[in-house]
Amino acid sequence: MIFSQILMDWYKINSRDLPWRATKDPYKIWLSEIILQQTRVEQGLPYYLKFIKAFPTVYDLAKSKEENIFKLWQGLGYYSRAQNLHLTAKDIVKNHNGVFPKSHQELKTFKGIGDYTASAIASICFDIPEVVIDGNVFRFLGRFFGIETPINSRKGFNLFKIKANKLIKKQSPGDFNQALMDFGSIQCKPKTPICLECVFSTKCYAFKNKKVNFYPVKINNVKIKTRYFNYLVIHNSQNQTVLEQINQKGIWHKLYQFPMIEYNKIIDKPTDEFQNIISKYSKEIVLKIKPIFKKPILHKLSHQKLIIQFWEVVLSKKSILPIEEEKVFSFPVPVVIEKFMTQFYKTLN
Ligand code: ADE
Repeated sequence: MIFSQILMDWYKINSRDLPWRATKDPYKIWLSEIILQQTRVEQGLPYYLKFIKAFPTVYDLAKSKEENIFKLWQGLGYYSRAQNLHLTAKDIVKNHNGVFPKSHQELKTFKGIGDYTASAIASICFDIPEVVIDGNVFRFLGRFFGIETPINSRKGFNLFKIKANKLIKKQSPGDFNQALMDFGSIQCKPKTPICLECVFSTKCYAFKNKKVNFYPVKINNVKIKTRYFNYLVIHNSQNQTVLEQINQKGIWHKLYQFPMIEYNKIIDKPTDEFQNIISKYSKEIVLKIKPIFKKPILHKLSHQKLIIQFWEVVLSKKSILPIEEEKVFSFPVPVVIEKFMTQFYKTLN
């Protein structure tokens, strides 16, 4: 039997019942695929439902305030994805009469739509035979063919794409692509693949050669960096505080945080820089500055280890600060800050 037939037979029995599979509406498919990038289906599903409820059409998303989109996105990380979501929605409405173009090539011209998302939309919505290459597909095909070229190289990507495009089912490429992704995440799993009950086991290079854990091959070029953040939780007896928008590019770009000072090691005493930041907001007397936690908090991100201390800074009664504390939860903030705020403002009240 040929590859696509074996895969589609498996998919008929094992496919996951997911809300975006009941539609070919490019808006909904696009939204689901952007949410699912670097995110597991179980984690992304509630976000998809929240977004569809808040923004049923591309017009609703385009006219939303960016801040509301960030707030809904909170917890998914890589906020440039949320920003691109908004930019592309506005582009589709303004320049394309609210209609997504049909070709893979044209779809790739929008902000945040790369080869993977363009392939997903083109195949699922418009039956164009363009294969999707995501982490699941790299793993499954890397093992099946025993591909040695690293997946995180341009050469590796091109090789997988050529090989996979030869396998795709021409009549229903959208189902084929979703079957590939489901097979990778349900059967050909990263740590515990179910090889003994696998429909491809007699053909799989890695299984036959006892090298399942060896694939997919990746060049290890990401170094985990340790960073030391100090947040100044400035407040006064009028229940006011300070939040700043993050201008620095990165996964938290455009979110809000307490004023932050970064050092290259843990500090246990306030420095002159603390005073400089505080005086940007108020020249009144500082009644107290002290670390809130005995030991700094450890927060792990995919490429960074953050060691975080929050410092309580209490200002005199006369001071005026820009944000009412009762409003802090309406700002989009990194999850580690939201967790802190939940604890801190509970103990304050
Ligand atoms: N991961 C990303 N997109 C997906 C889809 N359409 N189905 C299953 N898993 C996915």
